[in-house]
Amino acid sequence: MCGIVGYIGQRDCTDVLMDGLEKLEYRGYDSAGIAVFEKTGIKTVKTKGKLKDMRQKLETEGSPVGHCGIGHTRWATHGEPSDQNSHPHSNGRVTIVHNGIIENYIELKEFLTEKGYVFHSQTDSEVVACLLDYYYSERNPLRAIMETVKELQGSYALGIMFKDFPDRVYATRKESPLIVGIGENEYFIASDIPAFLKYTKKYALLEDDDIVCMTNDDIEFYDVHGLPEQKEISVAEWDVEQAQKCGYPHFMLKEIHEQPEIVQKTLESCCKNGEPSFEDIGLTDDMLRDVKRVFVVACGTAMHAGIIARYAIEQLARVPVTVEVASEFRYMDPIVGEGDLVIVVSQSGETADTKAGLELAKQKGAKTLAVVNVKYSAIARQADMFIHTLAGPEIAVASTKAYTAQISVLYLLAFRFAFARGTIDRERMNQLTAQLLTAPKAIQDVIDHKQDCQYIASKLINTDTLFFIGRSFDYALSLEGSLKLKEISYIHSEAYAAGELKHGTISLIEPGIPVITVATQSAVLAKTISNMEEVKARGGVIIAVCRKGTVFAADSVDMKLEIDTDLDDILVPLPTVCALQLIAYYTSVLRGIDPDKPRNLAKSVTTE
Ligand code: AGP
Repeated sequence: MCGIVGYIGQRDCTDVLMDGLEKLEYRGYDSAGIAVFEKTGIKTVKTKGKLKDMRQKLETEGSPVGHCGIGHTRWATHGEPSDQNSHPHSNGRVTIVHNGIIENYIELKEFLTEKGYVFHSQTDSEVVACLLDYYYSERNPLRAIMETVKELQGSYALGIMFKDFPDRVYATRKESPLIVGIGENEYFIASDIPAFLKYTKKYALLEDDDIVCMTNDDIEFYDVHGLPEQKEISVAEWDVEQAQKCGYPHFMLKEIHEQPEIVQKTLESCCKNGEPSFEDIGLTDDMLRDVKRVFVVACGTAMHAGIIARYAIEQLARVPVTVEVASEFRYMDPIVGEGDLVIVVSQSGETADTKAGLELAKQKGAKTLAVVNVKYSAIARQADMFIHTLAGPEIAVASTKAYTAQISVLYLLAFRFAFARGTIDRERMNQLTAQLLTAPKAIQDVIDHKQDCQYIASKLINTDTLFFIGRSFDYALSLEGSLKLKEISYIHSEAYAAGELKHGTISLIEPGIPVITVATQSAVLAKTISNMEEVKARGGVIIAVCRKGTVFAADSVDMKLEIDTDLDDILVPLPTVCALQLIAYYTSVLRGIDPDKPRNLAKSVTTE
């Protein structure tokens, strides 16, 4: 999604804005721009392209000189990437940057056109700048903002400057995230904390409809009625180093390598005396005992973590679990309510569809539990209860460490669920937990043998299409491995329940088509081997991802990647997914793609 930064203080504003936008590059963008108050007025420099193009333009056009300004990286929604459609947008006396979608921008544009406004871009954002100018007739910025947001339908995070107030930056938000950084006589706004972490770790969260006014020596918060309000100041737990590459070529590789430590930390944070414990977040054994059904609602990789959870909870606790894609759940008028537990899983905690699914579940009377990686996120704050995964800032667009942290937590939840409902005893629960706590070692072993993944990747780089197949947990892993691969290598890939292939899709298997078969589950191994043979018989190339020592018939496997672990089948997804992540990473890099910034993708999808 778009990235917003804003600053006022004593530093060189252009430097602070460009530095902040660089920290937000992971969000995905196609153009960039800044606007800075200079002595003679607001100077705006913006361009289609990347920040390197922006730096080039600053060179040629001259860097704005000042201490107060706003900046933006745009991920196009209305109007193609172009200089005109880039932010900041100015019209009349107002300059803004915007993240979100204004759903009624066409009728507003018609109204403003009748009032004599002329538009220079195709964006919905420029309409907001004009509307602010329209309501600025009394030269009262706060009033103009309050009147404007009353008319906006949709989502927005806005950084705003009024040309008559050269020492102020305003901001407001609805649905799209915006955070305020509190320094020593300097203030920041940003879409995400990494943008100002190097200057200050103190922050305040803007809630929907809040307005903030930042000046050189003060900061004021107002509610939707324009009344002053106090804001809680928090201190970020992350430091700059965590939000940087630390010598790795890409954030994604760094984050894959962080997984052993992340899983350890996250597991320990949800255990007490060697047992899974969720009492601190308000989730008691009595509540777990009373749950009739469980829903997991999420998107993408987070949804795939939900599928792992489904197999684990159903197998151990014998509670029915339904996993729903959030964008479907929110519009299907789901049959959910009193007595149901809806678990929403989200790394960013800002995914629009997941947030809407959470709100719907609450409206329908279900209990809601969030598993999120960003403590100050909207989903964390809106759910009845939330578990914080300690993966730290996940910068790469392709989610890796957040996924393993999510399934780690969900495993512990499955164990507690089963114990609370009496389907396993305390001894079995603690035995599973103790085993789970050894998983980081198994993940590390995969990382230590990453050359095996590199080898397999080298065999995939020229393929146009491939398949992942598996059964049970291996099917859940196939879904995640397939998403990882296609989103960063641009190779078409499909994941299939291995037993389903013969019901149609096997017609696509022809000589040379790679089929990555995840075969770690002993209970269904024989069946999976049959499916491999079906593929082999049609000339498919079988790449088996399996436990070390798994025996296959001669010539039935073309390549093997062995996972050396004695973890129970139920837990083997933790090291196995790391191998699939590394295969995807190396395939992407070998194809000359930047895995951290895959085309068309954004880290956090805060729009529908
Ligand atoms: C993960 O590799 C993808 N980039 C994407 O599917 C992501 O998992 C999805 O958008 C959900 O994001 P969230 O976890 O922040 O809600």
